Amino acid sequence: MEKEPHIISRRKFLTGTAALLGAAGAAFAAIPFIRAMSPTKDVLAAGVQEVDISTLPEGGIKTVLWRKQPVFILKRTPQMIEESMRINPESLVDRAKPEERTADESLFVSLGICTHLGCIPKFMDKVPETGVSGFYCPCHGGKYDSLGRRLGGPPPEDLHLVPYRVTEPGKLIIGTERFGGYGENVRKIQALPKI
Ligand code: FES
Repeated sequence: MEKEPHIISRRKFLTGTAALLGAAGAAFAAIPFIRAMSPTKDVLAAGVQEVDISTLPEGGIKTVLWRKQPVFILKRTPQMIEESMRINPESLVDRAKPEERTADESLFVSLGICTHLGCIPKFMDKVPETGVSGFYCPCHGGKYDSLGRRLGGPPPEDLHLVPYRVTEPGKLIIGTERFGGYGENVRKIQALPKI
């Protein structure tokens, strides 16, 4: 009878130790992952984010979280570029020309948030009833081309651009204002650091 408390406390001790070891193991396992995702200190301090797109194929899209919001990074194909050139800017709500939507025609970066009520659009090879590649918002049928220009449906505006800068081949930082590819009236994220 006297030994029972000892047995119970030993069992508790073993259980507690196993839990602690498990937690420590998980923490150590996470370190390389966290390191891999960490931007450099000066970039982080300015609130911009480094993104590796070295493995992003032509026609591929990558979605990253920046300031708790999804950001689309699309590597455009020659066909997407050609499709956008065929669209007359005068026919659009936001009359943005292709060169006002991106500094590098093969790379498009925007917020992944529909300008109607904030759903996340999905990329499609053919957006319904448009005949072009682009973004489609399934919530209420918002349609955008591969430059995020509104083609139809209830969205009142184009997808908002996220300024970016290519730092080296296959790498870019998003959330920096030092990027001269936008026109005066293009909707984009404002008040960003000039890095
Ligand atoms: S939220 Fe995208 S169309 Fe309504």
